[in-house]
Parts: sequence; C-alpha cells; structure tokens
Amino acid sequence: MDTESWAIETDFRAALKGPIWALAFSKDGTVLHAGGIENIVYSWPLADLASFDPMATETPQFLKKPEEMSNGERQFARKCSICHALSEEGGRKAGPTLYKVFGRQAGTLPGYPYSETLIGSDIIWSAETINQLFLDGPDHYIPGSKMPMQRIVKPEDRDDLIDYMRTAGAGGATEGETQ
Ligand code: HEC
Repeated sequence: MDTESWAIETDFRAALKGPIWALAFSKDGTVLHAGGIENIVYSWPLADLASFDPMATETPQFLKKPEEMSNGERQFARKCSICHALSEEGGRKAGPTLYKVFGRQAGTLPGYPYSETLIGSDIIWSAETINQLFLDGPDHYIPGSKMPMQRIVKPEDRDDLIDYMRTAGAGGATEGETQ
C-alpha cells in the first residue's frame, strides 16, 4: 500500500488457496509472512516483489482471468467474492449473499447471523449507501459490523463495482432510482 493515499501499489497472489487471514513482517522487515486457511505459512521477500511473479501457477485464481473481466467484475472478484455471493442460494460464505441487495434494509436477510450493528440499522442498501460504505470503510460507516476494514479509494472503481453488482444479481427494488 502507498501509505499516503492508502491505495494498493502491488497486488499479488500470496497463497495457493482462499483468503489471507494473517500477515506479519519478519523482525528485520525484509520478509512478509502470510497465512490463510491452509496449514502453511508463505514468506515473501519484499525487496523483489515488483520484479518477480510470486505465484506462477497453472491453477487460475478466479474462473475467468482477471484481464478478461471488466473493472467492476474484477473489483468484486478481488474484494468481495471471497465473502459474498451474488446468487440467490448464496453458498457457504462468511457474509450474506448480495443477491437483490439493492433496496434491502441492512441486516434483514432471513437466516444470516448479523451483528447487532446491522440488525439495528435503518440503512437501505443502494448505489449511494454502498458507495458511501466503501468510501468511508465499513469500520466508519457501520462501526461494530463484522465486515472487515476496506476502503475503495478510486471513485471509478466504486462506480464500476456498483454497476457490475447491479447487473450480476444485486439489482433489486430501488434499481433505476439510484442511478
Ligand atoms: C472478509 C469478508 C468480507 C469481505 C471481503 C466483504 N464483506 Fe461485506 N460483509 C461481510 C460480513 C461478515 C457481513 C455481515 C456484517 C455484519 O453482520 O455486521 C457483510 C455485510 C455486507 C453488506 C450488508 C448486507 C446486508 O444484508 O445488510 C453489504 C452491502 C456488503 N457486505 C457488501 C460488500 C462488498 C460490496 C464487498 C466488496 C467490496 C464486501 N462486502 C466485502 C464480510 C465481507
């Protein structure tokens, strides 16, 4: 990350499978250790990150190659899909499905174990509120929520993400009103 703007500078795949849940620097600061759902710690030499391909592997990370996705789809794949589906069934993910989330009152998908913050919230999800959620970050917009801190700094990335979500299953009751 560029710590001035909090924008991502270098984006790479740090583990073969699944999300990364823990990161730690070596004592001398030259190596970054990453751990996730596998019983493996990956160690990345930071000095060379720009010049080598950390996970050159045959297994694609997503069903589609990132370069074949629209920017909005790529935003969703990288930043949301590990925890959220856009399909009605939702699958087994940490977060509630975002199917028809536009127009949904926060914290109201039946059967999902929401935090108290979302259960008591009067937010209605729309292009505006989802934009605000990732402009401020969940830790500011819905403090106490179980959703981890994450900001999407570039306005066009938020716009593309929201447009993609709307066409890929999230469009609901307020569709059209929120343009
Ligand atoms: C590491 C997991 C994780 C990631 C990544 C994540 N979320 Fe979430 N999200 C959650 C969890 C958990 C909740 C439920 C929060 C609660 O109950 O406080 C949630 C809740 C939400 C809600 C509220 C849904 C509702 O029914 O009220 C929206 C909207 C949302 N996320 C959108 C997104 C978008 C868009 C992204 C990608 C930019 C994203 N999330 C990334 C875990 C995640």
